[in-house]
Amino acid sequence: MPYLKPERPEKVSAPSLRASKERGERLVCLTAYDYPTARLVDEAGIDIILVGDSLGNVVLGYGNTVPVTLEEMLTHVKAVRRAVQRALLVADMPYGSFHTGADEAVKNALRLVKEGGAEAVKLEGGHKRVHLVKRLVDEEIAVMGHIGLTPQSINKLGAYRVQGKTAAAARQLLDDARAMEDAGAFALVLEVVPREIAQLITESISIPTIGIGAGVHCDIQVLVLHDMLGLSFGKQARFVRPYANLHDTITDAVSRFADDVRNGTYPSEEESYGLPAEAADELHITATQKSKSEKS
Ligand code: KIV
Repeated sequence: MPYLKPERPEKVSAPSLRASKERGERLVCLTAYDYPTARLVDEAGIDIILVGDSLGNVVLGYGNTVPVTLEEMLTHVKAVRRAVQRALLVADMPYGSFHTGADEAVKNALRLVKEGGAEAVKLEGGHKRVHLVKRLVDEEIAVMGHIGLTPQSINKLGAYRVQGKTAAAARQLLDDARAMEDAGAFALVLEVVPREIAQLITESISIPTIGIGAGVHCDIQVLVLHDMLGLSFGKQARFVRPYANLHDTITDAVSRFADDVRNGTYPSEEESYGLPAEAADELHITATQKSKSEKS
């Protein structure tokens, strides 16, 4: 039987996610960073669109998320805002934008919401960020938490590795998850943790978990758009299922264009404009050129 895409016309909001969890619905999240892809993702019925700071890896070419600035995030959040109608639009708080005090963090989150048009912000970190999440929620900002592998900690971690692999580390993750829920986060990203721990956390908290490399038991799944479309470079993590190979599609299209230009078959007459006959006569355009002009 063909797969029928569920009809989900209603606008997704931060509070509606908890109700979806209660109903046992599996929701879907993807990243997007620009108008055309955000529009396609929204029109495909994806429930949450995250302008992730993975922007630094997959769009800006930084190699990691550390250098991404608030201004860069704002530019991309605004472009995505113009495209998205139904999905919940979440913006990542980039590294450095919430580390220098709660007032500064509120100011930066408000910019993402007011100037960028984000409906929620996401920030990385567990118990350390509890006071901050409470403060942002007090200021009416919807906050998504993010624990497990936190890419902004790359300089401290040394490498991107599976987190929560010992009993102590797993207990810490569970504590962090509960702390995020108590602080008022409306959802929680679990990045690259063992599926058993993700399941335990998902069953232990009432806010939805959003898994990336965290197994099938999370309430919501997220992937980085460029990774699943085959549009990012380097080795992919095992959880990235390649749904398309845009790398090859784009390379092929660009190479064929270059070949056509070099061998003179692009543009054809149909792909260019001719001069009207009267103007051609007046300008004494030569016979061959004129015959082309008359046809146009
Ligand atoms: O920046 C990002 O894209 C993210 C997702 C991987 C959850 O944080």
